[in-house]
Amino acid sequence: MSKLSFDRLLQSQGFGTRKYCRELIDDGEVSVNGEVVQNYKALVDTDGLCFTIFDEEWEYREHVYLVLNKPANVECSRKPSHHPGVLTLLPEQLSWRDVQPVGRLDHDTTGMLLMSDDGPFIHAQSSPKRHIPKIYVATTADPVSDALIQQLLTGVQLHDEPVPLAAQTCRQLGERELEIVLEQGKYHQVKRMLAAAGNHCAALRRTAIGQLTLDSLGLEEGEWCYLTAEHVALLVP
Ligand code: URA
Repeated sequence: MSKLSFDRLLQSQGFGTRKYCRELIDDGEVSVNGEVVQNYKALVDTDGLCFTIFDEEWEYREHVYLVLNKPANVECSRKPSHHPGVLTLLPEQLSWRDVQPVGRLDHDTTGMLLMSDDGPFIHAQSSPKRHIPKIYVATTADPVSDALIQQLLTGVQLHDEPVPLAAQTCRQLGERELEIVLEQGKYHQVKRMLAAAGNHCAALRRTAIGQLTLDSLGLEEGEWCYLTAEHVALLVP
C-alpha cells in the first residue's frame, strides 16, 4: 500500500505545481467518491484511487503506459520543428508528468507508438538486447520482387553501420506492399533498407510491437489508450 498527501498525489499525476494543486483542493475542485477533498495534507491510499477534478474522473497511476496510433505529420521529437509534437495529441497532464515516446517514428510514419513516463520501461523496450520485434507495413514505389525480399532477409549494408542489417521476417502483402519485421530500431531503418535494396518506401506504418497489435486496440489514427498489465505483458519477443 502506498500513501501520499493529496497535494503531492495531484502533482505526481501531472496536475501542476504543488502550490497549484493545493489551490485546486482549497477551491473545492477535487473530490473522491462524490466528497470534496478538504485537507490537502491528509494521507490517502493510492491503490485503486479514483478522483474527480473539474468534473473529470481520473485514476491514480504510479506510471503511465499508453499506445498512440500516430498519424502522419506529427513529430516524436521533444522539440518538434516542422510539425506538431506527439504530446499535443494527449491530455496536458501527461506531458507534465514527462510522458515520452518509446523510440521514434518518422514524422510521416503512422501507427503504433508506445509512450510512458517509466524510465526503466522505456530503456528496456528500446534496448536492442531484448530483440523485441517491430512489425511494419511498407508501401513501396516499385513493385515488390522476390529478389527484394531475399535481399532484406539476407541483409543490406547501410551507410554508417558496421555490419549488414537483415529483416527478421519479410513477406509480400500486395504488388507494392510488404510486411517487414525488425529487431533493431536504427534511424530510418526500414526506409534505408528498402533504398539499399533498390526500391523506395512511399509510406510506412507500424502495426505491432512484440505480440501486441494495433488492430487489437481498435484505435483510429490520432487516438490513444492506456495499456493494461495484460497489454504490457505482450510487449515481448
Ligand atoms: N523505419 C523507418 O524508416 N522509419 C520509421 O519511422 C520507423 C522505422
